Amino acid sequence: MKKITVRCGRGRYSILIGKYLLDRMGSLLRLQGFSGKVMIVTQGPVAKFHLGAAQKSLRKGKYRFCVHEIMNGEEGKSGREFFRLSHALVENDFERRDLILALGGGVVGDLAGFAAASYLRGIRFVNAGTTLLAQVDSSIGGKTGINLPQGKNLVGAFYPPSLVVSDISVLATLSDREYHSSLGEVVKYGMIRDKALFSLLAKEPERVMRRDPVILEKMVMASSRIKADVVSRDEYETKGERMILNFGHTFGHAFEQALDYRKLMHGEAVAAGMVAASEMAVTLRLFSPTERDRLVSLLGNFHLPTSLSGFGLSLPRVMNAMMRDKKKKAGKLRFVLPVKIGKVVVQENIPKDILKKTIQKIIRG
Ligand SMILES: NC(=O)c1ccc[n+]([C@@H]2O[C@H](COP(=O)([O-])OP(=O)(O)OC[C@H]3O[C@@H](n4cnc5c(N)ncnc54)[C@H](O)[C@@H]3O)[C@@H](O)[C@H]2O)c1
Ligand SMILES: [Zn+2]
Repeated sequence: MKKITVRCGRGRYSILIGKYLLDRMGSLLRLQGFSGKVMIVTQGPVAKFHLGAAQKSLRKGKYRFCVHEIMNGEEGKSGREFFRLSHALVENDFERRDLILALGGGVVGDLAGFAAASYLRGIRFVNAGTTLLAQVDSSIGGKTGINLPQGKNLVGAFYPPSLVVSDISVLATLSDREYHSSLGEVVKYGMIRDKALFSLLAKEPERVMRRDPVILEKMVMASSRIKADVVSRDEYETKGERMILNFGHTFGHAFEQALDYRKLMHGEAVAAGMVAASEMAVTLRLFSPTERDRLVSLLGNFHLPTSLSGFGLSLPRVMNAMMRDKKKKAGKLRFVLPVKIGKVVVQENIPKDILKKTIQKIIRG
């Protein structure tokens, strides 16, 4: 088992990474000195495969626990589910010394984390992410929240977990599409900060695709280290340091939105977004076409989209989506652009014709 420490305003917390950690959950919680009851928050597909292991281990650790299942999919992050979980906490007499254990992907983690932040003004929260996205991204950094009918993540809080447990063995049961999509985020970490991670992915595509545990652990470790480092420096997203985590996301969000969040998974949109950002950087002579081609071929190996021709996207639709996003972010359209594999810069004031040309290239192929 490996450990990464994340510094935060409230102190620090550990990320534990390794195989079969759910089977050791009871003793891991004891080691952290947690007493009290545990509310396991989970979702159908995760529960089917992994709830048993967590329950068995909590029983062995002599913990009292309850299980609360939320709706599957993004609907699990609704106000209704938030109150349903809060009611379950009251009904089961949860007190400040008790804890919530999220067992699921980003949806479960965001909802359970927000409930932990607000119930009795804050109870302890352990995040056991079960998707690759949760392990490399959403379980680290303390962002929690729920969706409103008007938009995603409109209500939430920065609330650091007390512990993050990333059991790489659970990734074996993810659907292929879910797994491939999250690889987009792993490639992102390679592009922004870690040439060695990028090279590992490029050298071992076959082992990555068959979810070799050694490779999984390396990917989760390397990605978590970067995310932990970035969020430690900019916990509340006020210093601009978290910005580099948005590589591929300015374009990616616009593609997702322009397709009504139906045709592309988040990581797939980010993959196309990273290609777009690289094209833009090549046009601006910041990035070499050879390195752009390396990125495109790596994403292709992981069955991720590198062009969106055939998706029926139009330039005005993508531009509108981007401008809506810009309004939300205080009127500035910023792009995280690669200068070489492992290093990015943030650029503003990109000429509109270059932006349009970049989008055209991606949507027309
Ligand atoms: N808090 C943050 O910093 C942050 C960062 C990025 C994304 N997010 C949020 O994360 C959410 C997306 O998370 P996600 O991509 O993990 O999707 P998800 O949580 O919806 O999980 C995807 C599907 O996989 C199932 N699943 C989870 N683990 C499984 C396993 N081991 N085996 C089989 N099935 C499993 C889930 O039940 C679900 O059906 C979004 O709501 C997004 O806003 C939050
Ligand atoms: Zn993302």
